[in-house]
Amino acid sequence: MILTGIIGCGSIARGRHIPAYVQNPHTRLAAIYDPVPGRAAREAEQYGAVPYENLEEMLAHPGLMAVSVCTPEKYHRDTVIAALKSGKHVLCEKPMAVNLKQAVEMKETAEKSGRLLMISHNQRIYEPHWKAKQLIEEGAVGKVLSFRTFLSHNGPENSVTDSGQMGNYYDRAEGNGGVMLSVGCHRIDLIPWMLGRKIISVMACTPTLDKRTSDGCLIRNEDTAMILLKCEGGITGMLYTGWCTYGCTDRETHIFGTEGVIKTFEDPWSVTLYKKSGEKVYYDLSPWAEKGSGGATAIVDKFIECIAGKKPSFVPAGEGIECMQVLEAVRESDRTGRWVDVSR
Ligand SMILES: NC(=O)c1ccc[n+]([C@@H]2O[C@H](COP(=O)([O-])OP(=O)(O)OC[C@H]3O[C@@H](n4cnc5c(N)ncnc54)[C@H](O)[C@@H]3O)[C@@H](O)[C@H]2O)c1
Repeated sequence: MILTGIIGCGSIARGRHIPAYVQNPHTRLAAIYDPVPGRAAREAEQYGAVPYENLEEMLAHPGLMAVSVCTPEKYHRDTVIAALKSGKHVLCEKPMAVNLKQAVEMKETAEKSGRLLMISHNQRIYEPHWKAKQLIEEGAVGKVLSFRTFLSHNGPENSVTDSGQMGNYYDRAEGNGGVMLSVGCHRIDLIPWMLGRKIISVMACTPTLDKRTSDGCLIRNEDTAMILLKCEGGITGMLYTGWCTYGCTDRETHIFGTEGVIKTFEDPWSVTLYKKSGEKVYYDLSPWAEKGSGGATAIVDKFIECIAGKKPSFVPAGEGIECMQVLEAVRESDRTGRWVDVSR
């Protein structure tokens, strides 16, 4: 039995990581830490885990082997490094860190510690995404030429359940980055994984259009991002992400090939293959929306499989770093107004 723990007991921990560890037959949720008094205790009580309000004490919990780091982005580096140094395997929420330097330090610490550091880029486990990847690999759309990928919603203030206790989300989010780091990173990870091609250069426009702090000023970080991306093999595409999509959520990805088009999430939880011949093949993946990746516990299951030595890391730290490298290139491109190569 693998004893697991949670660091940062907010919405992603409660909605995803805790249920996943509780359901996984190979794990027992043993310890929960959150610095906000009472927050860890509230969850721990339900699951028979020990609550902590001190990180060192939590990491010293007897037999604790693995932890999920579910803190805000700006605390990932310090928390992950502390957990690795104490001998724990770590599943770190996305984005890996707030900048490349931090991410590299985290990976180096993992290597020195001999412990697993996996990044929770969970969009890879969504059925429409792996179905699209499978179709691409089978050659269903011939040679891939281009893509467009969208991921946008009405802003974290409308989904982060703890924000009410902590004031305006954007007041406290300073230091966590903007929408590109928070949301766009999902697709910066997804596209190379889906296409099997790395992103090699970017051209970015990342404005702040509508989100404000409580004093009425526009937030310092971007709330919208439009990126052109060049990938290996000459594939060129575009990414749109934003916190200013009001009235619906946009999460479609389209892959354009010489023999047709793949569209994910055109309907919720579906993939549609449009063939050059005019034939249309619809894959209804809705049964998975509740039970499979829709329940979104699968990333934790993958983490546990890796620890148990059954499978290689599903999202190795090195791939978290590649995502951070692209994000740095995006920042540079927005600053200079130029195409920027992704340095390796
Ligand atoms: N994979 C996804 O789809 C997805 C979705 C939402 C959020 N996230 C990521 O999950 C992480 C947490 O987001 P959230 O929405 O749960 O935020 P949240 O604000 O709801 O929860 C964060 C929790 O961390 C605690 N915390 C703050 N500082 C801490 C510290 N130094 N050490 C330990 N705990 C600390 C807070 O008290 C809070 O309970 C972020 O990295 C975010 O990007 C991922």
